[in-house]
Amino acid sequence: MSKSTLSVTDNRTGKTYELPIQDGTIRAVDLRQIKVASDDAGLATYDPGFLNTAACRSAISYIDGDKGILRYRGYPIEQLAERSTFLETAYLLLHGELPSAAELDSWVYNVTHHTIVHESIKKFIDGFHHDAHPMGVFVSTVAALSTFYPEAKQITNETSRWNQIFRLIAKAPTLAAFAYRHSVGMPYAYPDNDLSYPGNFLNMMFKATEVKYTPNKTLEHALDVLFILHADHEQNCSTSAMRGVGSSHADPYSAMAAAAAALYGPLHGGANEEVLKMLREIRSKDNIPAYLERVKRGEFRLFGFGHRIYKSYDPRAKLIKRVAEEVFDVTGKNPLIDIAMELERIALQEDYFVTRKLYPNVDFYSGIIYEAMKFPTDMFPVLFAIGRTPGWLAQWQEMLLDKEQKIARPHQIYTGSDKRDYVPIENRS
Ligand code: CMC
Repeated sequence: MSKSTLSVTDNRTGKTYELPIQDGTIRAVDLRQIKVASDDAGLATYDPGFLNTAACRSAISYIDGDKGILRYRGYPIEQLAERSTFLETAYLLLHGELPSAAELDSWVYNVTHHTIVHESIKKFIDGFHHDAHPMGVFVSTVAALSTFYPEAKQITNETSRWNQIFRLIAKAPTLAAFAYRHSVGMPYAYPDNDLSYPGNFLNMMFKATEVKYTPNKTLEHALDVLFILHADHEQNCSTSAMRGVGSSHADPYSAMAAAAAALYGPLHGGANEEVLKMLREIRSKDNIPAYLERVKRGEFRLFGFGHRIYKSYDPRAKLIKRVAEEVFDVTGKNPLIDIAMELERIALQEDYFVTRKLYPNVDFYSGIIYEAMKFPTDMFPVLFAIGRTPGWLAQWQEMLLDKEQKIARPHQIYTGSDKRDYVPIENRS
């Protein structure tokens, strides 16, 4: 009969060990018993970039990278994109179940009534240079919120935790829109509680002199779908930052500022901004083959392509292509879509991309839609951050309630000098 164990023979000592296998993993600490001497710290694993290490158990999102599957709490992303709303999806991620009508009403009410930020936040944003990148402003103001809600430190208090969750989901769009208004020198537009979550965000972004802003229904819906598609994605770089910082029991504002900072990088949520720069640089379909040659020579990466987990088409990219069509019916076609589609067509025939299983990811088409909706390029990672906020918070809370979790503290393999004595400066050659 087969056993759920792994037998390991240490050829240094000839000893054999039997390690339990659970959920397709062995426990790294079980390797510690494998020693060559009693004062040896024991065997460890070396896994830069966490290519093959599970750091937690999670019931929030599920990805099958080979089949191109993404589910939140078991629900396929395609169904949520078609039938849910962003706030309902946020509830699902955080609570684990879809809400009843009454639960959804109360959830939407709570988020809607936390959208206003303290007036001092405006002064804080005023202090940034006019051309400050909105993601830098977003990261800083999310961190600054922790100073307004000192009770957020009470991370073991459930009521306090939920209050901060409402606040962060509610205020993320406000901070994002204020960062934008500052950059273009427009007065801040206050939240309008009559509007939906994405409708209010469009209001705070684009309201000019009209008394009441009326969002375009198609664009409002498109933005809602885009937020749903970005809402969670298991243990990616920013989520790991959220869990890692949260594991020291820092308040959720500080942890989310760290997560947003991780998202800012061009290999993660900053890729959508890079895609637009890349498409503009390519300029015309004729230049695509030469551009791809440079990618293949390793001069730079094709942004919006490739993924650590997806080794087939990113299901989010498929859905985003559909949203693009709806948006272009209202805004007119963004000409960059033709370059993007041709780039995808050619790349997917090239051996370089096929053998490495590099397909378009979520960031490849999202920026083209955002641009058509009149969002400036540097706002793209901020839009990603708004969508990801409920996922970060769900993962943060799951980590806090997981009895197995401890402060994150990886090992290292020390490669520095052995012990040596301090040399006075006059004796150094
Ligand atoms: N363009 C060209 N080559 C690539 C790309 C790309 N976009 N992505 C990976 N490769 C190559 C890479 O050079 C390597 O080739 P080789 O084996 O010859 O050295 C191979 O594919 C494997 O790449 P890797 O860097 O080991 O893969 P990874 O899992 O560490 O990186 C990634 C994943 C997303 C960082 C990477 O694919 C990348 O840099 N993509 C471009 C940035 C991007 O679009 N990021 C957004 C990701 S989706 C949104 C999100 O969730 O963050």
